[in-house]
This record gives sequence, structure tokens and C-alpha cells, in this order.
Amino acid sequence: MKQDFVQLQHRYHEDVERSYTLPSYFYFDPAVLEAERKEIFEKSWICVGHEEKVREPGDYFTVSLFDQNIVIIRGKDQVVRAFYNVCPHRGHELVSGEGNKPLIVCPYHAWSFQLDGRFHNGRAVRQMKQFDEQEACLRPVQVERFAHFLFVNLDPAAKPLQEMIPGVEEEIRQRVPVLDKLTLSHRISYEIKANWKNVLDNYLECHHCAVAHPQFVEIVDMAKYRLKTFDYHILQTGAGKKRLGSNRTPDDQENAVAMYTSYWLWPNLAIDIMPGEPGLIVMHVLPDGPETTVQHLEFYYLQKEPTQEGWANIEYQDKVLNPEDFALVESVQRGLRSKGYADGRYVVDQDRSSISEHAVHHFHGLVLKALGAR
Ligand code: FES
Ligand SMILES: [Fe+2]
Repeated sequence: MKQDFVQLQHRYHEDVERSYTLPSYFYFDPAVLEAERKEIFEKSWICVGHEEKVREPGDYFTVSLFDQNIVIIRGKDQVVRAFYNVCPHRGHELVSGEGNKPLIVCPYHAWSFQLDGRFHNGRAVRQMKQFDEQEACLRPVQVERFAHFLFVNLDPAAKPLQEMIPGVEEEIRQRVPVLDKLTLSHRISYEIKANWKNVLDNYLECHHCAVAHPQFVEIVDMAKYRLKTFDYHILQTGAGKKRLGSNRTPDDQENAVAMYTSYWLWPNLAIDIMPGEPGLIVMHVLPDGPETTVQHLEFYYLQKEPTQEGWANIEYQDKVLNPEDFALVESVQRGLRSKGYADGRYVVDQDRSSISEHAVHHFHGLVLKALGAR
């Protein structure tokens, strides 16, 4: 839908070699973020966590997406469902945090609901005229499972996630055959003084890797590093040169991973597979204001307590790679405010090699399309 409350002027072109980047105001104008909230975050599949968080019937957790609070809960029939976390009576929040409940009971006037969202009981309501139990059920939110991760979508008409990224789950499973056994080992959250797209622009190119990440280019071979764009995901691959926290070669272990692989999934999730010990590093990128981003970094391994190699990867992400990127994107964020900058160009080469920025162009194209500006 065309946004009428913000003039989305830009010099983006379908041809990356003629195109300019998103204009700088896209990265700080509150009206742009408001449009993105409505047209992107409330209409796309947003990852809310691993399904191990709701292993048993009655297990639940809550998440916030801008001002919308959602509860994810496993039913007695084992089906995982999501609902707006609001009581149909007078609007009190139903649950908070996470836990297990046999029945959802509102803390205000004690209306109760089954785990599948059906109205269960409320004092006196059944003696009332025209009390419609259907109207008193919880309002569902679409939820889908992908590689053991749960995604919600506030748009009831949204296309299924698996149709948007066909084959990706199978590919991840091929690269990490122990995918079904992974568990959350560690989680870190960061607040970055940058727009969420600025954070992802940085993630979606490795042009800066040789310049800004000296250790990364020792771990991953830049010679045949490639970035490939698909409708709603982007794949980055590079041969593993060495392992962090281990002297073995990347393929010297059962189920070890030889390649560095990264999957970015529209709009705000990235899954990294590092060379060596099998595991996933999952990055959630969430706007917390036009110029503030919250980034959650999750490490999934075979065991709850990371191994020496797992810790080496966690330390590298936390103490080296992420600080390097945060300094870059926070500087860019200040630069985007400069009167001396309006938009830039995408550097691409014929081979679409490691220095090519065509994936950033693809991401920007999706943003503009979602906002009705393309
Ligand atoms: S608001 Fe929930 S029972 Fe009244
Ligand atoms: Fe980076």
C-alpha cells in the first residue's frame, strides 16, 4: 500500500549498477519507521524463539513486537498456537513472562480460557443475554515452525513462511545434520545506536570484512566467498579456513561443518553456521526507535554448556566481531544525519564476489516494495 503520510522519494533503480541506496532519511525519520512497523513488521514472519521454549502442553512465553504483546502456548493437543495477549473482557493482559499453565486465567476478573484459545468460564456470563462465547475467545495470531524456530505473523492473510523460502530448512539440515538436537546454549542482547536497516546493510555485505574484520578473514576464505539473493532470503558462503578454539581442521570431526554459511531471512533474522563444531548463531534485529536497534544473539549447540570451541565462538562474536560492526554502523548512523550525505552507490563486480554489495540492493528493494514505493 502506498504510504501517504510520508513522501518516499528515492533514487533506487532495479538495476544495481545504476541504483542509489536508500536515502539517508529512511534511517532516522520516525515516519519511515512507522510505515515499516505497519507494512513490514506487522505483515512479515518474525522469529520469536526456539520451539524448545514450549516443550510441554501448557508451556508458554510472551513476546512484544512494537506495541503488540503476543503469547505463544502449546496446547493439550501438542499444537503450538499464538494469541494476542489480551483478555476479550476488558483488555487486561492475560499472562506475562513465561511458564506453564493448565488454563489461562485473566488476573482482572478471572475469565478463563483453554490452551487452544476457547472461552472456558467467567462468573455470571452464561446468564447474560446474548453472550456469544465465540466473541469471548482469544484472538489468534499466525504461527509457523521453521527449523525448530517459531515465527509469528500479525497478518492473517500472510503467505506461509515455508512457501516464501522454499528448501531453506532442508539446506540448513544438510549443513547441520544434528539440527534436531540443538539447544540454546547462550544468549546476548545488545543495544545499538543505529537504525535496524543500517545494522542489516552491514550484515549483508562482506566488502568491509577484509578492512574491518581481520580475524574473520582468517577463519573464512574470502577467495570464493559468494553472496546469492533469492526472493526472501540471502545466502552467503565461504570455505572455512580454521576453527576458533580448536587446532583441528574444519572438517575433522563427526558432523563438523566445513563451510561458513549464513542465511538472512526477510525481514530481520540471520542464521550463521561457523566452520567446525556444529551449531547455529541466530541474530534477531529489532527496531527500538528510528535510531536504536536491539540485537539478540543466540548460540545453539548440542549441549547446554558450550564446549571450549563454543565459548571461543561466543567470545569472538561478543568481544571482537560485534564490537567491530557496532562501531561501523554507529559511525554510519551519525554520517546519515550529515548534510553532506543523501544516498550512496552499491559497489558490485562482475563475479558478484566477496566485495559485491548486490545483496544490500536486494534488501533495499524488498523494503521499498513493502512500503509501496517501488
Ligand atoms: S479483563 Fe480479563 S476478566 Fe476482566
Ligand atoms: Fe561486519
